[in-house]
Amino acid sequence: MYIVSTSRTGEFAKNMMTSSSMKEVEVERKVFPDGERYFRLLEDLGDREVAVVGNTNIDSDILELSFLLDAAREEHPSKLIAVIPYFGYARQHMIYKKGEAISAKVLIASISEYADEIITIDIHDTSSFRYSKSKCRDFHASASIADYFKEKNIDLVMAPDDGAFFRAKEVADILGCKSGFMNKKRIDATTVEYNMDHLDASGMRVLLVDDIISTGGTILRSMEIIKNSGASAVFVSATHGLFINDSARKIAAECAELVVTDTIKSSYSKINVSRKLSDFI
Ligand code: R5P
Repeated sequence: MYIVSTSRTGEFAKNMMTSSSMKEVEVERKVFPDGERYFRLLEDLGDREVAVVGNTNIDSDILELSFLLDAAREEHPSKLIAVIPYFGYARQHMIYKKGEAISAKVLIASISEYADEIITIDIHDTSSFRYSKSKCRDFHASASIADYFKEKNIDLVMAPDDGAFFRAKEVADILGCKSGFMNKKRIDATTVEYNMDHLDASGMRVLLVDDIISTGGTILRSMEIIKNSGASAVFVSATHGLFINDSARKIAAECAELVVTDTIKSSYSKINVSRKLSDFI
């Protein structure tokens, strides 16, 4: 398989190359004086299996991914796969208020114009897949997260809301411990309330797992409640660490350990899913 990567996912793509049958495709990149960008693949990809790797949370990366997919498609590969480690805009997978765009639909529909298959990692909501013309598969990082925490004597894995419970349960089932979720009630666009009076985590080592950490608000509030219910230690993990502003430092200061996967590179991305992903492909 030939692997093409956007500029920002180069390290992830390199780590995906676990077998000698995988080859990195060099890309010529230029910026014209007016700021427009140019991409050219320096390899003959005709009749080859090709994977183009890129995240979709930064708008300029979306453009780069689209151009690289088009360049690969024009080479007439035998199969073209779009690998999206962090599928940004997935939280807008539906209309919450009249007049809104379904951002996830725009992205996935456009990518599926080029790719024969789309592979994501813990996309926020797989319902977006219904907008794709191509087959879509979501890789779960749960096994990798569980693997990282297997020596940490975790008693309980918690999700910050019911929508993320299946992730916590997947991790807990591998670790052989209990799982649960925070009972969250949305009051309005900016206010959420938690009803967790029943939670008793006395003396427990609790792992809090989510798909995304952005501003950190969700994790910080959940952590506070879990600590108040008597936990002896709280560990935090997520698949995608966006870490807006100072959120990583704030979370790390309040927990026993903060660790995320390598879909977005940071000093906290110590769980390697890139290698496992190549088996999944
Ligand atoms: C929302 O449903 C997601 O699963 C995350 O919980 C959310 O995106 C985290 O955002 P923040 O870190 O800004 O609270």
